[in-house]
This record gives sequence, C-alpha cells and structure tokens, in this order.
Amino acid sequence: MSQLSDFVSQNHHQNVEELKELLRIPSISSLSEHKEDIQKAASWIANKLESIGMEHVEIVQTKGHPIVYADWLHQENAPTVLVYGHYDVQPVDPIHLWETPPFEPDIRDEKIFARGATDDKGQTFLHIKAVEALLKVENKLPVNLKFCIEGEEEIGSPNLPQFLAENKEKLACDVVIISDSDMWDRGVPAITYSLRGLCALEVSLKTANTDLHSGMFGGGVQNANHLLVQLLSTLHDANGKVNVDQFYDDVLELTEFEKEQIKALGFDEEKLKKSLGLTELTGGESNYPYPEKISSRPTLELNGIWGGFQGEGTKTVIPNEAHAKITCRLVNNQNPEKIQGLIKKHLEEQAPKGCTVKVTLQDTGNPFLTPIDDPMIQKAAQAYEKVYGKAPVYKREGGSIPIVSDFNHTLNTPVVLMGFGLPDENLHAPNEHFNLENFDKGILTICTFLELICE
Ligand code: BES
Ligand code: MN
Ligand code: MN
Repeated sequence: MSQLSDFVSQNHHQNVEELKELLRIPSISSLSEHKEDIQKAASWIANKLESIGMEHVEIVQTKGHPIVYADWLHQENAPTVLVYGHYDVQPVDPIHLWETPPFEPDIRDEKIFARGATDDKGQTFLHIKAVEALLKVENKLPVNLKFCIEGEEEIGSPNLPQFLAENKEKLACDVVIISDSDMWDRGVPAITYSLRGLCALEVSLKTANTDLHSGMFGGGVQNANHLLVQLLSTLHDANGKVNVDQFYDDVLELTEFEKEQIKALGFDEEKLKKSLGLTELTGGESNYPYPEKISSRPTLELNGIWGGFQGEGTKTVIPNEAHAKITCRLVNNQNPEKIQGLIKKHLEEQAPKGCTVKVTLQDTGNPFLTPIDDPMIQKAAQAYEKVYGKAPVYKREGGSIPIVSDFNHTLNTPVVLMGFGLPDENLHAPNEHFNLENFDKGILTICTFLELICE
C-alpha cells in the first residue's frame, strides 16, 4: 500500500491536470448542440483507458450517446469487478452565477470547480487512476476488471438497459462498483444502500378553441389556468400526502433498525433552514421526520407549470390551455410504470368539467435497495476504514441512478455505491466542485477495495 500511496501522491499534480482536460469538454447529454462534445468525451475516456493498459477498449454507439467499454481479464481465480460511471453532465444555467466558467476548470481552496467535477467525471476518473496505479506499481490488477462508462445518465440512461440485456456475458461480474454519490461529511465516508427511482409525466389541459378576451367572456367561460390549478391541487392532501389512489400500496416501510440509524446520524434543522434561507420546513408528508422524507418516502412534485400570459405588463386574456410537468421519486417496492398509470388515471378522473385533459407518460427508473450485510459492501466498508481511519455511515439517498437497479437485477450482482463527493459540492448547480482532499484518498480506497475482495 505504501508504494501505491507514494505513486498516487507523486502523480497528484499530473492526475489533476488530466482531469481538467476531461472537464473542459462540455458533454451535456440533454442538449443536441453538444452531440459532438459527447463523442469527444467518450473518445477521451477510451484513449485514457487504452493508455493505462486496459484492453478491448470500445466506443459502443447507441441510438443516443455512446458507452465506453474496456476490460482487463488476467486473473483466472479472482473475482471480476465492473466499474460504472457517467461522463455526461447537466446543463450549466444559470451561467451568470458561476464564479469561473463551467468548462474552464479552476482550483480554489483545494477544490476543483467545473461542471462534472464531482458528478460524475471526477469520481469516475478516480477509478481510472486507481487501475493505472495498480498496473504501474504491481504490473497487474488483483482482480479482473471491466469499465462501462456511459453518456446518458443525466437523461435517464434510455439506451443502457438494452446494452445490458444484450451483453450479459460480456458484462458478467461478481460486483458492480460505482462512485456517483456522496460521503456523509468531511472525513466521514458513506456507503449508499438505497436510491430512489423516478417516473415523469406531463399534463395538458384544454378548454375553448382559442384564447379569449377576459372582458367579453370573463365570468362566463372557464379558464384553463384555473382548471389546471384545481386539478393539480387534488394530487396532495392537507398533510402533504400524495392523494392518488394506491400510490403508497407497495411502499416498503423502514425497519425499526433503519429508523434508529437515521435518528442516530442526527439532523440539524436550524442549520438547514438557515442555509436555504427558509423559516419553516413544510414540504412533503407532515407526519415523517425530514431525513426520512428525503430518502425513503416517495414524492410527487410539480416541476413546471405554464399557461396563459407570461410577458411584460398586463394582458386581459382567458387562456385556453395550461400545462404541468410532474415527476415522482419512488422507493422500493414501487413500480414506476404502475405509478404512472395510477397518476394518469387520477388526473383523467379528476378532470374538472368543461375541459379535456391529456396525460403523456415520460421516463421511468427503478428504485434500488441492497442489504448492508452483503459481503461486497462490507469489503467496501473496510477499505474506507483503512484509508479514512473511519468506518462509513450507511445511508439512503434521495436521488436516482436509474441503471443501478438494472445492474442488480439483469446481471444478478451486488452493487456497491462508494461515493467520494461531499453533500455541498453543488452538483447540478452553479459552481459545482470536487474537494481534492478526496482525490488521492478516493483512488487509494478503490485500490484497497480491489485488493480486499481477493482475500
Ligand atoms: N449522481 C446523481 C445521483 C446522486 C446524487 C446520487 C447525489 C447520490 C447523491 C445522478 O447523476 C443524478 O443526478 N441523477 C438524476 C437522474 C435523473 C436525471 C434521471 C437525479 O437523481 O435526478
Ligand atoms: Mn451522477
Ligand atoms: Mn447528476
């Protein structure tokens, strides 16, 4: 280990410079004008994997953005590890709030600032560097290893499930390891043992065949905005519960042990309110504690509502259409398609008189939950403890990595979510960054994990 850690620290500067190259590529998966950049990022990853000694490096084109695959399979009797990560990033707006441009990586206070620095280019890069260190220092890896790095995570991984299903043999492994989550706090590592799933819908409501003068028709003809607000307000009850029939039917409740654990981790409500500029925290189900609400309870959120006049000044109009975008975060054992169906049915049944309601079903992703006594998770815990000198916290994450459940079920393998980000690194927001204190430590924790699972 000491030779490895010397190697990693001697190469720290060079490694950070290399990460900067990747961070300069604006590989935003949701915007079609960045299609070329996505290809560039995939090529960059593929070249890097090739140069550190990975074999069978491939850029697999899909209907969307490519998947980068590579392997090193020279340890007949050792386990096989699959590393998953994503090289695509979220859009950068609002751009004016960035202190330095999002695709010009900048180091300040031992943090590297750029879009993707923590989510997930920076964290994926740690795995590449761990493999490089092992190959350079030991001339071999302790395990067989495969990389599967995709470019569509931030748009819900629409093409990866098919790739998994069609390449079960090629991707076969004993464990999937992913660094795309965060630690508990500075110096306190965490293993995420649950992710929420999600489903998305859009609702469009129409009334008359045209917008109307609100003086000539107002008071007599129904207003699409009013009817949409009325309809949307039926989605929750007064206690913040989702009011859709059977919505909670399949929700797996927390065990008493988990509730105790969550409590023991503590939650500083005052601190959170202060940091968010809130005087009250009133979201979601009123009878659940905040830490449970954001990790192990399902939600239904209105992400966007539009209709009628939004321009400068006043317009005396009765709009004839109104729209809303809805997403749910789901937990085990809710089925995203089933929940979509329930919400669609609810919206159609509750449609006020005098309008037509059209519900469009959009993306889905399954929730993920794994037992923390899985031997692979315990090895990850030992690795963290060796490098950080502290046992990890086990936590449920409220965010989603839709493909994780597919890895778990299609490949029939445990998945270890070993994060090196910190909760305040502004992912998806302006001034995203990665704390460099977890850069070398992350690399060494991954090396340690790979060595430990061979024992
Ligand atoms: N890496 C995140 C998910 C995450 C965030 C895990 C924080 C643990 C801690 C991932 O890239 C992400 O943003 N997922 C999206 C998925 C969606 C776009 C389909 C999410 O959760 O909104
Ligand atoms: Mn991510
Ligand atoms: Mn993300």
